[in-house]
Amino acid sequence: MPDVKLVNVTKTFAKGRIVAVDHIDLHVRNGEYLTLLGPSGCGKTTTLRMIAGLIEPDEGMIYIGDKLVTGLPPEDRDIGYVFQQYALFPHMDVWDNVTYGPTVKAWIEEKRDRIGREMLEMVKLYDRSDAVPRELSGGMMQRVALARALAAGARLLLLDEPLGALDAKIRFELRYELRKLVNDLGLTAVHVTHDQGEAMAISDRIALMKKGKILQVGTPQELYMKPKHVFVANFIGESNFLEGYVVETDDRGCIIELRGGLIAHAIDKTRRKGERVVLAIRPETLSIEKGHKKVLNGLPGYIERFRFEGTDVRYEVTLKNEDTIVIVRPALMGEWINEGESVTARFSPDKSYLFTYPTAGLRRELALE
Ligand SMILES: Nc1ncnc2c1ncn2[C@@H]1O[C@H](COP(=O)(O)OP(=O)(O)O)[C@@H](O)[C@H]1O
Ligand SMILES: [Mg+2]
Repeated sequence: MPDVKLVNVTKTFAKGRIVAVDHIDLHVRNGEYLTLLGPSGCGKTTTLRMIAGLIEPDEGMIYIGDKLVTGLPPEDRDIGYVFQQYALFPHMDVWDNVTYGPTVKAWIEEKRDRIGREMLEMVKLYDRSDAVPRELSGGMMQRVALARALAAGARLLLLDEPLGALDAKIRFELRYELRKLVNDLGLTAVHVTHDQGEAMAISDRIALMKKGKILQVGTPQELYMKPKHVFVANFIGESNFLEGYVVETDDRGCIIELRGGLIAHAIDKTRRKGERVVLAIRPETLSIEKGHKKVLNGLPGYIERFRFEGTDVRYEVTLKNEDTIVIVRPALMGEWINEGESVTARFSPDKSYLFTYPTAGLRRELALE
């Protein structure tokens, strides 16, 4: 199970007009399940294809284990690759698909058959060895693709939206199977997805990308609890963003004047008086009560919209300053409040984050492309 290092890797297309990957550094540790997460077009597939050797970087170096692989063809990199579209040979049965690698490598028959059987048992499809791809469901085909990717003995597994074409329920099941398999076999995996739920559920760590750059690398919890960037706070989970200025600082934190004179307390001690900031508050950390109450970090407003969403209820609250925030509460806790009612939305200073107001503007910084 090798580690993978990307050092200052850049890839452009269209004679340099499209910067797909922009000077990224990344270390995927030994035995780690790492996900490249980000909106469509941010450079995830390009990064994965460079690790695989399907395309070469313009600049920078890639190491697999201790070996510098930049310039080496894919077959010399010892990797397994799984695509979103089950790239199986349509005219070959499951057995021939899975043992294709060992066959090409001219392994002795006994070894080939043992590996073929092991891999198919691992993905629970040994009894379907004779089936051809079109006789299988999407989930089964993707399991075969996985077995095939691993049959040639690769210790590094690269997966590009491997669950993207599957129905929700199968996708959820396969997430956990995939994760378990990579653990059990002691592989290193790099998984590409634009689905944050998938990334959160499956990864040891996530590298969050935007426009060819990596904004933050960390465990799912770190990205959720300690986002380093407004984009991260928005892309991982959900956040309300309120703009304001720091009007007071003391040894406990600072006081922010939001638009329309609303006041908020934050525990951030790094701010200067007069600084323009964005306060980010997660919808699930806000409480809501009827009426306008004068309480710490209580924001007065009224309910613009109420939605029952199954396990949660969702309020859109228009604040006194005309900003709108979202509040999510567990459906079975407390009474529901009707649309049109005056309320106080309250948040805890230690469950909100401050960011410096982005120079490009907030909207621009949060945009997906
Ligand atoms: N072969 C190519 N030729 C030209 N542009 C490309 C090519 N491959 C990718 N791109 C562009 O590079 C950017 C990153 O693409 P990609 O890595 O596929 O993103 P993602 O996988 O995150 O959706 C996009 O703007 C895409 O249009
Ligand atoms: Mg892609």
